[in-house]
Amino acid sequence: MPPTLEATLAEWDGEQVLLRRDHETGAWAIIAIHSTALGPACGGTRMRGYPSLQRAVADALALAAGMTLKFAAVDFAAGGGKAVIWAPPGLTPEARDGLLRRHGEHIRRLGGLFRTGPDVGTSPRDMDLIAERGAPYVFCTSSSAGAEGSAPLTAVGVFAAVELLCARARADGVRGAHVAVQGVGSVGRDLVRRLLEAGARVTIADVDADAAARFSGRAGVSIVSVDALLTTECDVLSPCALGGVLSARTIAGLRCRAIAGAANNMLAAPQDAARLRERGILYAPDFLVNIGGALGNTGIEALGWSKEQAVRRVRAAVRDNLREVIARAERRGRTTEEEARALARARLLKEGT
Ligand code: PHE
Repeated sequence: MPPTLEATLAEWDGEQVLLRRDHETGAWAIIAIHSTALGPACGGTRMRGYPSLQRAVADALALAAGMTLKFAAVDFAAGGGKAVIWAPPGLTPEARDGLLRRHGEHIRRLGGLFRTGPDVGTSPRDMDLIAERGAPYVFCTSSSAGAEGSAPLTAVGVFAAVELLCARARADGVRGAHVAVQGVGSVGRDLVRRLLEAGARVTIADVDADAAARFSGRAGVSIVSVDALLTTECDVLSPCALGGVLSARTIAGLRCRAIAGAANNMLAAPQDAARLRERGILYAPDFLVNIGGALGNTGIEALGWSKEQAVRRVRAAVRDNLREVIARAERRGRTTEEEARALARARLLKEGT
């Protein structure tokens, strides 16, 4: 039995949840504000289908908590939040546009408590629609410096993590390494390009066969089924699709040495971090690795960083945190996930009081 909506909300340690029924379309729009201790909440607007309202809310709550950890871990003055729009299937383009405009209205009324950017299922064009009423609390609109969306800078961070893991394991680093990328959507695709440029061999899979097929015939790329990808023997597994991929079942079958990817909330349960450690797989905690889009684009648009500065900051933040967390985990015999959470929590407490 899935938990009830009430139990899901009761277990959460965040500040508030705004739940809005969009009567025009029948969609549910959720804005979860997990923490404003370090600054106004910031997080993407995700739009997809869910099997139930409980699952949509649970996703928003977990993703918002992840944003708090991401920003805290890099000592950035933003809090954690996330918007999830559970849209009914088969919306006409006009109905979808209206839904996003009303979401923008809701964000404007919050007066800066929550700021948003693109995420799974939304694009810079969608940010334009949200910004019609939601500006100035919307990042990555198509006329902004973040017009390419948040994917390229997210991929910069994931690539930096993969490089670091490869450098620990092989004399040649990423050159000649084998990386398995699960999901070649906006981030995965960009990551694959960077990996190929750096001389890696890449195996990919995507639930959307057309997305994977775009790479067919490309030198250095093999395409396999989604199931086969998780058991591919490789140096680094890079989950770049949806969360929950690392579970008791999948971890038992993994044949990678390390994991670093763009997906949020990769661990299906907290114990999965220990399961990975027991199998000798080095796990780069997701919220340290996938900060690039949120950090880089917020830096560019809210603080005036140049693109080069953003790339430098993202690379340095990911590398420094990962190095530190791996060293601490080795020293103390704990999981990298525990150490990463401790690091983020310490920064939250320092700033938030
Ligand atoms: N998709 C981003 C993330 O999950 C959200 C984001 C993008 C936030 C751009 C701000 C700006 O981290």
